[in-house]
Amino acid sequence: MNDIKTDTSVLNTPERSYKGQDRVFSGVQPSGTLHLGNYLGALKKFVKMQDQMECLFCIVDLHAITVWQDPKLLRQQTHEITAAYLASGVDPKKAIVYNQSRVRAHTELAWYFNCVARLGWLNRMTQFKDKAGKNSERMSVGLYDYPVLQAADILAFKATHVPVGEDQRQHLELSRDIAAKFNHDFDAPDFFPLPEALVQGPGAKILSLRDGSKKMSKSDPSDNSRINLTDSADDIAKKFKKAKTDAGVIPETVKEMEGRLEVKNLVGIFAALTERTDQDILTEYAGQGFGVFKPALADVAVEKLEPITNLMRRYLADPDELDRILAAAADRATEIAEPILADVRKTIGFSGA
Ligand code: TYM
Repeated sequence: MNDIKTDTSVLNTPERSYKGQDRVFSGVQPSGTLHLGNYLGALKKFVKMQDQMECLFCIVDLHAITVWQDPKLLRQQTHEITAAYLASGVDPKKAIVYNQSRVRAHTELAWYFNCVARLGWLNRMTQFKDKAGKNSERMSVGLYDYPVLQAADILAFKATHVPVGEDQRQHLELSRDIAAKFNHDFDAPDFFPLPEALVQGPGAKILSLRDGSKKMSKSDPSDNSRINLTDSADDIAKKFKKAKTDAGVIPETVKEMEGRLEVKNLVGIFAALTERTDQDILTEYAGQGFGVFKPALADVAVEKLEPITNLMRRYLADPDELDRILAAAADRATEIAEPILADVRKTIGFSGA
């Protein structure tokens, strides 16, 4: 994870910061159990960043309802993500941890941005196409509009840096396009910063354990395709044992791993969990078969994830305390967003603004 540190310190130079104010925003949907991809691609980065800049880490429940969520479960799912944040090391005294629906600025700015973003831009969003498949006519308008709300999340706080996994790169490009068009249309050149995606780092794209052509995903029907943060040590060992590989052994060099997607993925997971390089892992296991490598990987994963799972359980035992944390942070988020939204209303020219 060293490159993350290096990257953000580079970005954090005065020339790159927005009017001297660097701010981080990121979010995770409360739409299912978190998996190793979410942990390595997002949560682990959050923990590093909270000591470097002002951070808002959101549980994006408004995004979650773009597909059906059982109202009886949504609050619990929100608590689960909150608990996962805290158990991974996000500290609510350092970072602002809240759920999106508590802060009205998100939906208000999303509407203004709906009037800035162009249909053609949204038509190009690959994640909508992937999620909708052949059923796009039957999807909610919210699912289609999802990236506009994401832009509003970030820009309601004039956030400059957004730590995310590789799959969010296109949404971040759209956020930049919306910010630039708003600034241009309203002749307010520096109104919004152009937020920078922080995708770098070893865990940016964790693949399915069953199919190296797909990313690890909450929505994959096969539970064996992912390691959930709530999995037991046994589940983790079994899933890695079943993980797809090939007939070869662990190679000596990164170059020799090219084209061996599943192997590269497992080595990458090992490296990301232990904060070592891929080459370091290869040097240690070169020539070994997967019968040796997979149990070693499972041990590392259990060692890193078990304390998080246990802590999550402890946080979840006190949902009222989680709500207190979310409510206090939402008040703070509102304090930051409200003056920005007041300026937006004035800039657009509303009577009464
Ligand atoms: P979500 O909930 O799908 O995923 C949360 C975070 O986990 C990352 N991620 C992965 N990283 C590596 N490998 C994977 N296989 C993997 N799968 C998921 C995601 O990139 C993400 O960082 N649209 C966002 C939520 C969002 C948001 C925002 C993010 C809403 N508003 C504003 C940043 C800024 C999403 O669906 O994340």
